[in-house]
Amino acid sequence: MGPSSELIRDAYDHSIGGERIPSTDGERFPIVDPATEEPLTEVAAAKTVDVDRAVEAAREAFPMWRDTAPDERGRIVHRVSQLVREYQDELAALESLDQGKPLSQAESDMEGAARYFEYYAGAADKLEGTSVPVGPDQVDFTVREPYGVSAQITPWNFPGNLFARGVAPALVAGNTTVVKPAEETPLSSLRLAELCVEAGVPDGVVNVVTGFGDPAGTALSSHPDVDTITFTGSVSTGQTIMKQAANNVTPVTLELGGKNPAVVFPDADLVEAANWITKAIFTNAGQVCSAADRVLAHEDIHDDLVERIVEKAVSYDIGSGSENLDMGPLASENQLEKVVRYIDLGREEGATLATGGNTPDREGYFVEPTVFTDVENDMRIAQEEIFGPVLTVTPFPNEAEALALANDVEYGLVAGVFTNDVKCAHRFARRLEAGNVYVNKWFGDTNQTPFGGYKMSGIGREKGLEALDSYLQTKNIAVNLADGSSKDLPGA
Ligand code: NAI
Ligand code: MG
Repeated sequence: MGPSSELIRDAYDHSIGGERIPSTDGERFPIVDPATEEPLTEVAAAKTVDVDRAVEAAREAFPMWRDTAPDERGRIVHRVSQLVREYQDELAALESLDQGKPLSQAESDMEGAARYFEYYAGAADKLEGTSVPVGPDQVDFTVREPYGVSAQITPWNFPGNLFARGVAPALVAGNTTVVKPAEETPLSSLRLAELCVEAGVPDGVVNVVTGFGDPAGTALSSHPDVDTITFTGSVSTGQTIMKQAANNVTPVTLELGGKNPAVVFPDADLVEAANWITKAIFTNAGQVCSAADRVLAHEDIHDDLVERIVEKAVSYDIGSGSENLDMGPLASENQLEKVVRYIDLGREEGATLATGGNTPDREGYFVEPTVFTDVENDMRIAQEEIFGPVLTVTPFPNEAEALALANDVEYGLVAGVFTNDVKCAHRFARRLEAGNVYVNKWFGDTNQTPFGGYKMSGIGREKGLEALDSYLQTKNIAVNLADGSSKDLPGA
């Protein structure tokens, strides 16, 4: 089964306690090639009992991993980064096949994955507490301790890259992990878990269970023995997870997507703005939480900018991931149906199709790069996350109106402004309601920069040193130096 028997196996089991373990009931489900709609392989379908086994393995491994010297943890995690680089071509080919993105983009994802392990490896022995000067009678200091078992529920748009984004900081902080990749795209996570074992990560420290949101995801996010949850995906699933976590008072880090504005002023370099925006909406067929979804274009340059973006959009070549053209298929049939519904909705709402809007007559979940103009900001296509190659363009008359339009949305993940006026750029950088702001570029985040949402786009930060806060809890330790009983009372 599958196009390359070397790259992909006939069937996959869970990765629990360093071993390949089938589901207790033996059930598997098919993984579909989004470029052909044909089954590629099948993976184990986790039930609650399988999630329990994975959490138990992570729990058992925790004290040993917590007590491994930090420099040793760092060296092991660094070896993971080296193996990800060593196997980068294989990982990229697998990701591209499973998820649909052009090979070059999958290669970039895997370079990023290697970087996460490399970057956090160096932090493992630098997670210092503080000493608190409370006076002569007490020694007081803080230590930063791991939570324990970190559950990671990941989506299907950047599966391998997001595995690394969450697992690397969790590990260096001394947590053990259970990852549940999205049911559409579990293969790179299973392979990365094997590379962790090969790198010397002890058995049970990294576990992967494959399965659906219900029952596998639910079992994980409501598990009383999970100590912290990291989730990337839709707002509604994030809200469900938060409610489930509330029953156990389990902390959550949520990254819930966006509806990100790109504001273009007349003085901007329009060639560059069009290049950035096209890349920022059509990379990974628009299935990017930080895509540039909504262009807000000043009236004076609106037509010129649209013309440049459309010219680029129509030049896009579409094909399977392995053909490595400009854009691949959407990752699943569900996502194709959702995107097509939004394109139909855009027409019904009265927006104008400047280009695209069709699904090419071929197998696979393909849709053309699509640009809507005459978009009012209160239209649903301007407010809701489409998660496809669909750009909306809305004109604005002045700076105040541009800012109001940019912020008039429930989401707040990223935002961008294109202008050569340094004061205007900084005014927007301050006032845009988003966790990340780009000036005269897009995708300005790196592994080193904190990333996360304002408003409905999430809670907490991934990436950078700040991500470690999601994986460490602070303990304050007070040691008495005084003789005799003290008069200290709570609240003093
Ligand atoms: P989803 O949020 O339902 O799926 C993401 C992950 O959550 C998957 O691993 C899934 O199995 C798991 N999950 C689903 N229900 C769960 C539950 N009740 N408890 C625990 N885990 C659960 O996203 P879906 O339905 O695949 O995509 C729908 C929309 O979500 C997309 O069209 C897009 O707008 C948005 N999305 C945003 C992403 C982002 O990067 N922020 C990534 C993926 C989707
Ligand atoms: Mg879902």
